[in-house]
Order: sequence, then structure tokens, then C-alpha cells
Amino acid sequence: MRDLRDYSLKAHNTFGIEAKCSRFLEYETIAEAQEVAGILRESHTPYIIIGGGSNLLLTKDYEGVVVRSDVIGIQIADDRMTCGSGEVFDEMIEASLMAGLYGLENLSLIPGDVGASAVQNIGAYGVEAKDYIERIEAVEIATSRVVTIPAEHCGYGYRQSKFKQEWKNRYLITHVTYRLSTDFQPHLDYGNIREALRQAYGADDVSALTAQQLRDAIIGIRNAKLPDPKVMGNAGSFFMNPIVNREKYERLAAQYPVMPHYEVDKDHVKIPAGWMIDQCGWKGKALGRAGVHDKQALVLVNLGGATGDEIVRLCQAIQKDVEAKFGIVIHPEVNII
Ligand code: EPU
Repeated sequence: MRDLRDYSLKAHNTFGIEAKCSRFLEYETIAEAQEVAGILRESHTPYIIIGGGSNLLLTKDYEGVVVRSDVIGIQIADDRMTCGSGEVFDEMIEASLMAGLYGLENLSLIPGDVGASAVQNIGAYGVEAKDYIERIEAVEIATSRVVTIPAEHCGYGYRQSKFKQEWKNRYLITHVTYRLSTDFQPHLDYGNIREALRQAYGADDVSALTAQQLRDAIIGIRNAKLPDPKVMGNAGSFFMNPIVNREKYERLAAQYPVMPHYEVDKDHVKIPAGWMIDQCGWKGKALGRAGVHDKQALVLVNLGGATGDEIVRLCQAIQKDVEAKFGIVIHPEVNII
């Protein structure tokens, strides 16, 4: 177990913001997670649980304990993969393909850890983590008990789970079990995927497509649009795509016939926040050292040495403009501390 005081979190947030925490605890095993739970119970100080820091915006030093999983290891049994919560999510996808287990290709290159994938229900290109999560193993902080939580109990929705709301700070996740498919059935219906595949592999017919080719194509799309956090600090999509009722959608669609949208259910439609931010003229613009990425307006970037507050100010300016133009309040996907 790592137990450090006055610890810099710069390497633990992909925005690359300098901020410290009073204490940093990292567990590598279930037993260490139980020990960390005991420390949290006894210390009576506030705490937060982080993953790879790819969804985190730090605005100040954190006067409390920051907890992180460093549980690694991947076990494969038939079509199930059980992964330590501290594994890098994309490395797990690579391992799944090598084992001939499919389903997660569209989530390739999403930054972050396996534990966070289950908290955040990460998603991309028509696939969400919840589609393949079977169960989660965790230590309950209040008791140090080891619990197994079936995915059906986790309240999964678009970028949502109970771990983010009613169960916030209740569990230290140690393992996530994914149930995958031994049959490769590609999900190609999102936006520009078929077109990207056609361009990459020439063929109109994608029936001969391999999982590795799909993974490579997804990586290509992401690399073209999303900045590499190692080069320019960012946390992927900064905002969630808002879900509006159909009546509101119809009114906007009449006004903006080219507005992209995704059907949610018969009463609700999701509208891309990136498109609205782009329409407000924010793409490629900056406020101080905080910027809006020039290829995808949903991504806010640290142009170099930005503080968390500068990024929050940019976030607020964008929220105000989107609300004024579209009558929709957009909310950050990123956790602001
Ligand atoms: N668009 C614009 N201008 C922009 C950005 C987007 O016009 O600056 C338009 C695009 O042309 C497209 C639509 O908006 O018609 C949607 O854009 P895109 O396909 O890039 O996806 P998104 O809705 O902006 C979501 C996820 C991403 C995920 C992609 C692909 C959220 C909050 N974000 O973005 O996830 O990679 O779909 O599935 O749901 C992340 O969570 O960090 C992330 C990158």
C-alpha cells in the first residue's frame, strides 16, 4: 500500500493541473483495500476516490484523502474477463482481443482505469461499458466487507451509475468482470464508423472485418478528433450530451434542420453538446490558458499552465452561451473538485 502525505496529483489528472492532497492512499490487493477502508473510517477526514484522473478537474489543493486503486491482473475464464480495477482500460481491451473475446472494440483508446469504467459507464460509438459488465467486486468502506455487486443492481444509464450518486464513496472497487462474446459481432451503426472503415480498408463490404481492424479504425477516429492528454491536458468530453423531451427537440429541429441528434426513447432525444458549443462559435477559442479544442468542441484543453479555476470559468462562459442560444443547460461530465 502506498500512504503518502502532501502528495502532488499532477500525474493523476489528465488536465495536468498542479494540486496537492493531504494524504494519498493506493491499494494493490483486496486486503489493502480493507485496510484503506479502516483508515478512512477512523480518520474522519473527507475523501475522494479517483481512477486514472481522466475525468477530474482539480481547482484547489484537496484537504483530505485521495484514494486510488492499483489492483492489477486480468483473469480469463471462458467468455469472462475479471480485471483489477487499477488496470488501464484500453490495455484490457487489447488483452480481450488477444484472447479472442469481443465486444469492447468501440471503446478503444478511451483513457482511464477499469474501475472508473464501471463507475462512469464510459461509452463511445454506440457501445457502453454496462453492455458487457457482469459484476463488480468491492470493499464496503463502512464495514471492510468484500461484496459482489451484479451489474443489474448498479443503476446504469448514460454516463450514470449508483456509484456516482447514492453509493458515492461507499465502495472501493477491486475487480470488474466483463462478460464478452467469443463471436465477433461488430457494432457499426454509430455516425461515421462505416465510412471510416470504407476509407481505411477500401471494401464496401465489411463482412471480412476483423476485431483488430475495427479497433484500429476507432483509434484512428479518436486520434483525429481528440487531443492526446500527454501532449495537451484534457479530460475527453467535458460536458454530457443533454437529453431533452421530444417537444423541445421538435422546436429546435424546426429552427436548426441540420442539428445532429440521437434517439433515446419515444419521449426523449439526445443532442450533441459539442455541436451546440460549435454553433456558439467557441470551437478553437480560448479564455486565458483554457481552450476549446479546435477539432471537437466538447473537449476543453489546458493550453499550458492553466489553473482549474480558469477551466471552470471557460466552462461557465460556454454554459451561459449554450443556454442563451438553445435554451438548454449543459452539465459537466468531468468531476470538479
Ligand atoms: N459536432 C460538431 N462540432 C463539434 C463536435 C461535434 O458539429 O465540435 C457534431 C458532430 O459532427 C456529430 C455530433 O456533433 O454530428 C456528435 O459528435 P461526436 O460523434 O464526435 O460525438 P459526441 O456526441 O460529441 C460522444 C461522447 C464521446 C464519444 C463520442 C463517440 C459524450 C459526452 N461524449 O461525443 O466520449 O467518444 O460520442 O461515441 O457522450 C468522452 O466521454 O470523453 C468521450 C470522448
